[in-house]
Amino acid sequence: MTLLITGAAGFIGANFVLDWLAQSDETVVNLDKLTYAGNLESLASLQGDARHIFVQGDIGDGALVARLLAEYRPRAVLNFAAESHVDRSIHSPEDFIQTNVVGTFRLLEAVRAYWGALPEADKAAFRFLHVSTDEVYGSLGKNDPAFTETHRYEPNSPYSASKAASDHLVRAYHHTYGLPVLTTNCSNNYGPYHFPEKLIPLMIVNALAGKALPVYGDGMQVRDWLYVKDHCSAIRRVLQAGQPGEVYNVGGWNEKPNIEIVNTVCALLDELRPRADGTRYSAQISYVKDRPGHDRRYAIDASKIERELGWKPAETFASGIRKTVQWYLANPDWVAHVQSGAYRDWIQTQYVRDEAA
Ligand code: NAD
Ligand code: DAU
Repeated sequence: MTLLITGAAGFIGANFVLDWLAQSDETVVNLDKLTYAGNLESLASLQGDARHIFVQGDIGDGALVARLLAEYRPRAVLNFAAESHVDRSIHSPEDFIQTNVVGTFRLLEAVRAYWGALPEADKAAFRFLHVSTDEVYGSLGKNDPAFTETHRYEPNSPYSASKAASDHLVRAYHHTYGLPVLTTNCSNNYGPYHFPEKLIPLMIVNALAGKALPVYGDGMQVRDWLYVKDHCSAIRRVLQAGQPGEVYNVGGWNEKPNIEIVNTVCALLDELRPRADGTRYSAQISYVKDRPGHDRRYAIDASKIERELGWKPAETFASGIRKTVQWYLANPDWVAHVQSGAYRDWIQTQYVRDEAA
């Protein structure tokens, strides 16, 4: 048996493949375009492992996807591939439309053709699992209840709008063609192999490098944090027992304002890698210009996946963030190799100190 997993050289996909192959001998075909976010070094431990087959390519290349489906006959396709960074979507939305909307559409078309020709038993057992985000639901007010699966879609950034469009396509392929789809909408992930353009890894690597820790606006925006391995276990559970056509929100009931996250990272570094001059890492915090259209608060109501599929996260925020900081301290080469790429140019243009803040 085989899974076709897209975008598995990225942060969550790589963690998923590592966890999957630690518990199963089912082969994984990893289709990844290797954009700036794709990093095969994250999968270095699988070198020479015949259970991991890497193919560099685009989910929007229908002929390639059709060939892979015909060759490997997967029992499921898991779609992690996406442009995922909100700030990049504000600067350059085109790539987000191409991959997240057009790419998902082409992937669905190739999968529909493959699935339609499967023998009946295989057809019934087949799954297309689409990995999506809580950002499609928009922004919550301070006292609003957390997002349920029936919350209306109100995406606010080019990123979340493109993910929302992909979710609608996935839904339509179930409703119209009967494709057995599953969609997960997860909150903010953190953990090993996270590209250091996102809040938590950026704070860790900047702190260690003695650089400013850029906090957007007033730092009181709220995100709901989930350790990446818990997201992976939720996806495994949904693949195993989710009902076709259903949507599952995934989250860890861990709402925190950004400034609290940054202070927590600083305190852990103070403990685990104290600064040579004895001062605190929090002295590096720098309030910068806010992200345009910045969503104020996300929160996931994960009751459905808990109730219907019996899934719960294993980590608390305290245990997960400690593991994460420890991982970055133990893997300076991974960080250095990421930083020696085009990422450095990006970071220089991104953070503008807001003197008024
Ligand atoms: P990431 O940016 O780290 O990785 C994305 C991967 O997709 C990269 O390896 C990249 O090379 C690949 N890719 C991009 N365009 C492609 C294309 N056209 N064809 C094939 N591969 C392509 O992203 P991530 O944080 O690992 O997120 C994975 C998925 O989970 C995304 O769909 C994202 O929307 C969703 N998600 C992320 C989070 C989070 O906090 N990171 C939370 C909820 C949902
Ligand atoms: O909610 C799920 C989403 O979480 C995923 O769908 C996205 O793919 C993922 O990138 C993430 O989006 P966010 O925009 O929430 O993540 P990011 O790490 O970019 O930012 C987290 C919060 O921290 C957000 O409120 C913006 C703020 N921030 C971010 C950066 C990079 C800062 O204050 N300073 C920063 O330098």
